[in-house]
Amino acid sequence: MQTVTLIPGDGIGPEITKAAVDILKAAGAQIEWDIQNAGTDVIEKEGNPLPDRVIESIKKNKVALKAPVTTPIGKGFRSVNVQLRKALDLYANLRPCKNIDGIKTRYDNVDIVIVRENTEDLYAGIERQIDENSAESIKIITKKASLRIAEFAFDYAVKNGRKTVHAVSKANICKLTDGLFLNCAREISQKYPNIEYKEILVDNLCMQLVQNPEKFDVLVLPNLYGDIVSDLCAGLVGGLGVAQGANIGSDYAVFEPVHGSAPDIKGQNKANPTALLLSAIEMLKYVNQNEVANKIEIGLFKTIQEGKFLTPDLGGNSTTTEFSNRIISFF
Ligand code: NAI
Repeated sequence: MQTVTLIPGDGIGPEITKAAVDILKAAGAQIEWDIQNAGTDVIEKEGNPLPDRVIESIKKNKVALKAPVTTPIGKGFRSVNVQLRKALDLYANLRPCKNIDGIKTRYDNVDIVIVRENTEDLYAGIERQIDENSAESIKIITKKASLRIAEFAFDYAVKNGRKTVHAVSKANICKLTDGLFLNCAREISQKYPNIEYKEILVDNLCMQLVQNPEKFDVLVLPNLYGDIVSDLCAGLVGGLGVAQGANIGSDYAVFEPVHGSAPDIKGQNKANPTALLLSAIEMLKYVNQNEVANKIEIGLFKTIQEGKFLTPDLGGNSTTTEFSNRIISFF
């Protein structure tokens, strides 16, 4: 039995978490959940959206499954996600984007893996108000973080039979910061002669992803570009409802969907639990429960392929519960 920290989050978080937990239980996963609430719902009681007990729990269990948590825009507390990634030094954000049979998209054969640096860049949130009419934000890029994320990307490419790594930057403009990132990627690429190394500017990448996404394999990016490009890639394969993610460091791993708390559909039992479920499947593989992970994957893909019980974001009119029950019916 493996103990895993479970953060049900807020917004649609608790609904999709219930679905994922029910599915894992029905499939026979040997998981004991250490439930840790975080986010807007705990601020009132505990005065902090990310109480220390959450971090302590992940440090103890080493692995977590996390649903989305709301971050106020332009004001209020710092993102729980950013704090969590920093506190646990989860330096790599891994976001695979692959077509799923049964989900109609504009493209076939998309199979991209995004490796996003997770600890610095403008995402460090170092900002200040200069005066009433201006504010500034500091972009931090370090050699240490850039070398290790590049190493992670190439290592992932080798272990997963990938052929090409593209380093993505805007080094023509941000010559010092993105230039450093690119130099580090180049340095690491030398150690991996069997992986093709390419460089591309982020604006050009966005255009090419929309035109020919099947040309891309592994992308390694600084934090902010990685954030934006991973939503773009999620859109290529069926939207945020099906985009999984993982935050991985040397000691801990937190698996979570790419999407946010979707306040617009909160409490309506129509959120798609696929992204969280795919993240849970990766979590099961990470803790060596491959058999049960495969069983859930088969049930999920059969449900999507069959197309009878899809949530509205996938063009259906089923509820989260109906979709989940259909997956369970395949076990
Ligand atoms: P969002 O990802 O929550 O929603 C964008 C659109 O996608 C909405 O129309 C929503 O209904 C839809 N959507 C998202 N997930 C879905 C699902 N599973 N099934 C069906 N439809 C889904 O992005 P938004 O609105 O920009 O952010 C809402 C909040 O979430 C913000 O406070 C943001 O900071 C937070 N957020 C949290 C993340 C996390 O906890 N890892 C990641 C991204 C955003």
